[in-house]
Amino acid sequence: MSLIENLNWRHATKAYDPTKKVSEEDLQKILEAARLAPTSSGLQQFRVLVVENPAIRAQLVDGSLNPECMVECSHVLVFAAWNEYTPERIDAIYDRTTEERDLPQGRFNSYTDKIKEMYGNQSKEAHFNHAAKQSYIGLVLAMAQAAELKIDTTPAEGFDNKRIDDVLELEKRGLKSVTLLYMGYSDKQRDWLSTMKKVRNPMEEFAIRIK
Ligand SMILES: Cc1cc2nc3c(=O)[nH]c(=O)nc-3n(C[C@H](O)[C@H](O)[C@H](O)COP(=O)(O)O)c2cc1C
Repeated sequence: MSLIENLNWRHATKAYDPTKKVSEEDLQKILEAARLAPTSSGLQQFRVLVVENPAIRAQLVDGSLNPECMVECSHVLVFAAWNEYTPERIDAIYDRTTEERDLPQGRFNSYTDKIKEMYGNQSKEAHFNHAAKQSYIGLVLAMAQAAELKIDTTPAEGFDNKRIDDVLELEKRGLKSVTLLYMGYSDKQRDWLSTMKKVRNPMEEFAIRIK
């Protein structure tokens, strides 16, 4: 199936079959798609937490718009972004890039000095907001990869961020939650959206051609 066919196939799944699990092989492909996301300045300023443990998921139900998905889907992915841009974090990724590309040390110093200065003048909140935007790129690639594998997903912003951050101890990792991606296999009997037409603005309205 082409990408467009996969995007037409997928929908925001409302109910999952609790007896069906996503295989480890497929999970790895979905995570790999997210890992390959391009990010601003190549900082890779988001992470994905994979939550399978039912006892932990039970603690995340409160505040979720999709409590049944939280409990019944196969895996819950939590997209979480850096809570702050620090010189150390910026250096760490550029040091890795320099090493893996076998470049001379300091190859990126003039660029990293520039972005350290720019982010140094911004608040932590602005850092997180910028990092959070990058995480959506990973979210979308994960959803597209899942669709190719015929795995159902639900992107979700409807949850209690503080609860997720606390239960998963994200602050310790220098992260804050942005979105969830429930994944698994739809329970067609209860998944009311599965048979509904996909509705989008018509192309003439959506794409604005500047001539
Ligand atoms: C960033 C984002 C957050 C969303 N949050 C939720 C959510 O919390 N709960 C939910 O049921 N659907 C959520 N959705 C699903 C949207 O409502 C859905 O994608 C949209 O209505 C289009 O339908 P489709 O995905 O089936 O094509 C979210 C979608 C996105 C992209």
